Amino acid sequence: MALFSLAVLCSGRGSNLQALIDATSTGTLPARIAAVCSDKPNCTALTRARQAGIATRSLRQRDFPDRAAFDRALFADAAQFAPDLIVLAGYMRIIDPAVVAQWQGRMINIHPSLLPKYPGLRTHQRAIDAGDAEHGASVHYVSAELDGGPVIAQAALPVVAGDTAETLAARLLPLEHHLLVATARLIATGDIALEGGRVVRDGRPLPAPLRLAVDGKLVAA
Ligand code: GAR
Repeated sequence: MALFSLAVLCSGRGSNLQALIDATSTGTLPARIAAVCSDKPNCTALTRARQAGIATRSLRQRDFPDRAAFDRALFADAAQFAPDLIVLAGYMRIIDPAVVAQWQGRMINIHPSLLPKYPGLRTHQRAIDAGDAEHGASVHYVSAELDGGPVIAQAALPVVAGDTAETLAARLLPLEHHLLVATARLIATGDIALEGGRVVRDGRPLPAPLRLAVDGKLVAA
């Protein structure tokens, strides 16, 4: 059977992409990354992909008349690699709903909050401002609603006295890497899927998102 294949979309630093690259090369993640696509032709993520020998594609919004045309073109580029799954790993654009619909159940996103809390931007600061005791990250199937699709798994960490958005983000990032790799693994192995709009594990709907445990495994909440 062909190895499960991923297309990863990134806009920036690409540390989550790097975690996926490393996990595919060690075999922790039984998958291959067929392509990395970006809306930012000069981003570090594309450099990381090239260094790993992965095909890259990038397009600029300014070369397209509108968002939908850009999205259709970028996702057509990704589709040429026939990925089983598209992973949004620090991809910082809202995607046209018609394009999202084409990839329903085959596209996931990592978001730095415990969804449904704090969709959108400035998630770390919003968690601090709200006085939250706990913050975290979520991996979810992408739906037309921004950061609103069914959540598969989450990683949580305590907010401590004196935390700033920067310190919180820095502590969360390594957890994000484990969370994304572990979730992609469950999808690649066929343990998790989206069925009827719900996350299903081994044929049964998940009552709550899985949680990242200290040993790096995803467990029932
Ligand atoms: C990550 O923290 C990811 O959760 C966040 O962007 C960062 C990308 O870092 N994504 C979003 O905010 C999407 N709404 P990376 O480029 O080093 O992987």
